[in-house]
Amino acid sequence: MNILHIVGARPNFMKAAPVIRALEADRHRQTLVHTGQHYDFDMSDVFFRELGLPPADLNLEVGSGSHARQTAEVMLRMEPVLLERPPDLVMVYGDVNSTLAAALVCSKLGVRVAHVEAGLRSFDRTMPEEINRVLTDQVSDFLFTHSQEAGDNLQREGIAAGKVHLVGNVMIDTLVQLLPKASGCVPSGLPDRYVLVTLHRPGNVDDPIFISQIFSVLNEFSRRIPVIFPMHPRTRQRILREQIPSSLNGSFYLLDPLPYLSFLALQRRAFLVVTDSGGVQEETTFLGIPCLTVRENTERPVTVTLGTNTVVGRNTSRLVAEMEKVLSGQQKQGQTPPLWDGHAAQRIAIVLR
Ligand code: UD1
Repeated sequence: MNILHIVGARPNFMKAAPVIRALEADRHRQTLVHTGQHYDFDMSDVFFRELGLPPADLNLEVGSGSHARQTAEVMLRMEPVLLERPPDLVMVYGDVNSTLAAALVCSKLGVRVAHVEAGLRSFDRTMPEEINRVLTDQVSDFLFTHSQEAGDNLQREGIAAGKVHLVGNVMIDTLVQLLPKASGCVPSGLPDRYVLVTLHRPGNVDDPIFISQIFSVLNEFSRRIPVIFPMHPRTRQRILREQIPSSLNGSFYLLDPLPYLSFLALQRRAFLVVTDSGGVQEETTFLGIPCLTVRENTERPVTVTLGTNTVVGRNTSRLVAEMEKVLSGQQKQGQTPPLWDGHAAQRIAIVLR
């Protein structure tokens, strides 16, 4: 088959890498298109290198913009590519704007779409990713899910059961493959015992009152246990505007976005992770590290029911209470969800075969 993969943003890269590798064995003709949604070296290029992704055959260079502009630019620039040499199948990953934009163009041109990480639902339509998930799933022909709940969501939305394939978690494939290499990539100059923090959702960081409150809570904790915070560019812009960095004490480490291996190394050794990311909730569950999610909901409920994740909401008092619990040794114990075993991409290859 002639298979075209679309990636655009940081969380796509670690999902596409194992799938491309697994499909190589079946001698498909594969093309990789980067939409350019993420374009900074440390949000994109370094991931290609560390994940062993081949260089993109084409970069659409859409860059940043409003949701409408970014989505529309991907669609406009994608259409001629598909018309020139229509593939047999386009594979899209996750829930970013590039995912939905590419899926829409394909569906209008009659090109079959496979969605990797289908069926996740937060049931919160104020999240742009939720719109991207629901609509991408509606126009996909192959829906690859990572948990039973994801399949149940798709069934409720009337997606034919024959299109849905429970294969497991491709992001965990990457983690399993690279974990041994990550142990040599711990960034230098950092403490051994720490809380690792990532926050980048517009719902959190674009709210000046909330972002100030959360930094004040974390700053207070950093007097007892160091806090390491690698920052997404959006978060950096917001905290500079609020002049937050000057108020932080010496055990609060603000870092640039980290490459995959360094961030994995930090997650593995963390005492606790505080996040609003989707992928980090899953990675901590696999690693058995306690995770507190600063959001009102999660599209990954298996990380709460089986894993080490606790959803604390956008509620700093609850965050403080849960952090105290972990610091006093009462952390949540978890187990690895079924099929998060490092072989999800191989199962995708078998389905496509
Ligand atoms: C996107 C995804 C989000 C994912 C996140 C991971 C959507 C709707 N959101 O959010 O689901 O969790 O990626 O990182 O697709 N910027 C840079 N350099 C870059 C990229 C972005 O400086 O390489 C800055 C720009 O100011 C930009 C802002 O970050 O306006 C937001 O980027 P954007 O791609 O719109 O969304 P993310 O917040 O990265």
